[in-house]
Amino acid sequence: MMNIGVAGTGYVGLVTGVCLAEVGHRVTCLDVSEEKIQLLKSGQSPIYEPGLDDMLQKNIREERLHFTTDRTEAYQNKDMIFIAVGTPEGENGQADLSFVKKVAVEIADTITNDTIVITKSTVPVGTNEMVEDIIRSRTNHTAHAVSNPEFLREGNAIHDAFHGDRIVIGGNYEPAVEKVAALYTPFDIPVVQTDTKSAELIKYASNAFLATKISFINEIANICEFTGANVEAVAKGMGLDKRIGTQFLKAGIGFGGSCFPKDTKALTSMSAEAGYEFRMLNAVLEVNELQHNKLMDKANEYSAIQKGTKAAVLGLAFKPNTDDTRESPAIRIIEELKHKGAEIIAYDPIATDKMKAVFPDLTYTDSLEEALNGAEAAFIITDWAQIKEQAPAFFTSHMKRPLIFDGRNCFDPGDMLDGGVHYHSIGRSGNSFRMTMST
Ligand code: UDX
Repeated sequence: MMNIGVAGTGYVGLVTGVCLAEVGHRVTCLDVSEEKIQLLKSGQSPIYEPGLDDMLQKNIREERLHFTTDRTEAYQNKDMIFIAVGTPEGENGQADLSFVKKVAVEIADTITNDTIVITKSTVPVGTNEMVEDIIRSRTNHTAHAVSNPEFLREGNAIHDAFHGDRIVIGGNYEPAVEKVAALYTPFDIPVVQTDTKSAELIKYASNAFLATKISFINEIANICEFTGANVEAVAKGMGLDKRIGTQFLKAGIGFGGSCFPKDTKALTSMSAEAGYEFRMLNAVLEVNELQHNKLMDKANEYSAIQKGTKAAVLGLAFKPNTDDTRESPAIRIIEELKHKGAEIIAYDPIATDKMKAVFPDLTYTDSLEEALNGAEAAFIITDWAQIKEQAPAFFTSHMKRPLIFDGRNCFDPGDMLDGGVHYHSIGRSGNSFRMTMST
């Protein structure tokens, strides 16, 4: 059992703290927001994440998990302190490290014993060394810095923490790395031990590679539209080659969220600063920008949206099973629809509150039926189960004009056509798609 402090109770910090408590460590999580800490102390999570509330409550009850706004409580007498504060997009796309630096200073000024400081936040190459330097310059206690990037996906965070593909631990002082590796023994996940800088880059390289896969398949989808091929068949045929892999080949309206857009920009900016132009990543970002506008391009082709057209935006979260709307393609669609003077109604089962912060004056609903009633066009942005499970008749019976632009390929085009829906999706011809495969 180790005594652990965690700075920051966002997605990464909270999930890390809860899961380390779950395997038996004693964890104190710190945040500057009094409101957030009060909520967490009462066993409620400020973020929507399946399974998190139960695990949070259990570990509070069993007294392994504590929340505080007091730095002394979080940092003193700890074997390890995790830094899990945000690294938002700064000017020119580079990661803004002001929160990380602030925490490093506060750790240095608070600790009363030697400790290990582990950075979970996604940080540019060299940041862990900077953290170590900051601490060394302010205290005589030793604090070895270890990089331990986080790979969890929103909506699957608890599952990923216990069933991740790998744990990456980077440090320049071997005993500290070993100690952090021992912390994770109960998770039984392969550990990659390396130097600090490589660990920092593994995180950016992984996210950038996944983003590249998405932009690649979106470009293939665009070629499919020009040539009459079907992107789902192409992705399947490609993905069965184990060197390529089936995952992250789902064509759509482009990636969003708090990680891919920010981390790809940060990596291009980090490369430029180091004197290297990462040409391919610039293209990945450009393709994604264009893809966010794909549904509006299609709607424009059909002159589907005029002033006063009643348009339903179906899904506001950047992906299903999360209420996170950061960098969601819905934002661009709503801006375009507003610009055209459409009468917009926005649906999401859980993310409407988050989108209200971006568009306070929009009409929102958590009822799919209400969103579609009388609509003359619908734009599917998030592949929520609530949307995917509907039959074509659901749309024809509620909409005034059953015209659907689907950015997530939720339906079979043939079924929609047969059901009387004017259906437009990504990278698929209007014909029914039937693919067979012998095993
Ligand atoms: C991602 C990484 O997966 C995770 O390892 C990292 O720690 C944080 O960033 P997350 O942002 O939660 O996780 O979402 P993810 O499930 O990876 O999806 C990202 C975006 O890509 C979503 O907008 C999703 O809709 C899109 N996507 C994903 C596609 O368009 N096609 C795909 O095939 C996969």
